[in-house]
Order: sequence, then structure tokens, then C-alpha cells
Amino acid sequence: MIVSWDRRQLGEHRDEVLDVYAQAMGVSGSVARSRRPIVTSHLERKGLKAVAAQDADGRLVGVAYGYLGAPGQWWHDQVQAALPADHRSRWLAGAFEVCELHVRPEVQGQGVGRSLLDALLTGPPAPTAVLTTPDADTRARGFYRAAGWVDLVRRLVFPGDPREFAVLGKDLRA
Ligand SMILES: CC(C)(COP(=O)(O)OP(=O)(O)OC[C@H]1O[C@@H](n2cnc3c(N)ncnc32)[C@H](O)[C@@H]1OP(=O)(O)O)[C@@H](O)C(=O)NCCC(=O)NCCS
Repeated sequence: MIVSWDRRQLGEHRDEVLDVYAQAMGVSGSVARSRRPIVTSHLERKGLKAVAAQDADGRLVGVAYGYLGAPGQWWHDQVQAALPADHRSRWLAGAFEVCELHVRPEVQGQGVGRSLLDALLTGPPAPTAVLTTPDADTRARGFYRAAGWVDLVRRLVFPGDPREFAVLGKDLRA
């Protein structure tokens, strides 16, 4: 079952959200918990929207959230600097930034991720949506491609993280 969460509910479920993140990304609980202040800072963001997938027992099996980004925010500024000038106005200005989309490994491949993303982007919340994902041959890359996302920038490296990321965009007016 997919449910919508408001800011308060996302805040209350922070630790469960980070547990799903840890499992989906294959990182330790302590690495995931170090992201708690980041999630907390997102609770005040403009246009915040969150959706959760729960199993029959009410356990959180997947989660997605995002918001309307703005200059002065770390991720937004990094992506803006990486985008060619024409892409900045076309894709990033006023975009809905998909911040998290994670599904527990044991329920991946059952349509949960697609349902979460569809619910998150129903509205539509903005003319375009953008996100970053590791620029590697991952399940997520195939998933987003199948859902109509296009590559805007490849091989983006964020400060303090050796991995390469791809910036993806989706036109929500199409
Ligand atoms: C990426 C992720 C969110 C996808 O969720 P999911 O529930 O496994 O995906 P779904 O079952 O909803 O897949 C939906 C569609 O995506 C496509 N898809 C999924 N994986 C794919 C792949 N490896 N290659 C191509 N298409 C793929 C398929 O079209 C699938 O439709 P189908 O069921 O008709 O085959 C999930 O695998 C995950 O949490 N991965 C780890 C964390 C992560 O990388 N998150 C994104 C970070 S930005």
C-alpha cells in the first residue's frame, strides 16, 4: 500500500527511512544514521512531498521524497554548476528534486519503486523533476531509463564522495 506522508510524518519515520536506505544502498546502519541531520534539514524545504510503501503488517518497505529546490542549497548548487547553461533554465529552475527513492532488497522488482515514483510525481509538483544517481550499471539506472528519465550530465563528482553520479531529468508536462 502506498501512503502519502506530510512533513510531520516524514520526521517521525526518519529512523525507519534511514533503515530502508541502509538496506537498499547496502551501507551500514551507522553510515545511514549519519544522514539523519540531512533528512531533518529537508523537513523544512518548500514543496516537500513524501510517499511510503507499507506491507500488510504496516512495515515500511519503500520510501520516496523530494521538494522544490532553490539556489543556496548544497545539492542544487552542485548540480547547477555542473549543468550546461541552457539546461539550467530548461531543467533545474523550479524543478522538483527527487531526493530519496529506496526499496528494501527483498521486495525490489515487484513494482514498488515504480508505484512510489508515480505517486511522488503525480500532481505534477513542477514542470520538471531532477535527481542524481550513481553513474554505473545499476538497477536504478535501468529503472529510471525505463520510466522516461534522460541523462543531463554524466560523471559528476560531489565534494567528499569518490563516486561518479549522473544527473537525470524528467519532463513532467510530457
Ligand atoms: C531503483 C529501485 C528504487 C527500483 O525499485 P523496484 O521496486 O526494484 O523497481 P520496480 O519493480 O518498480 O521496477 C519498475 C520498472 O523499472 C524497470 N527496471 C527495473 N530495474 C531495471 C533494470 N535493472 N534494467 C532495466 N529496467 C529496469 C522495469 O521496467 C520495471 O518494470 P517491470 O516490472 O515491468 O519490469 C530499487 O531497486 C532500489 O531501491 N535500489 C537501490 C537503491 C537505489 O539505487 N535507489 C535509487 C538511488 S537514486
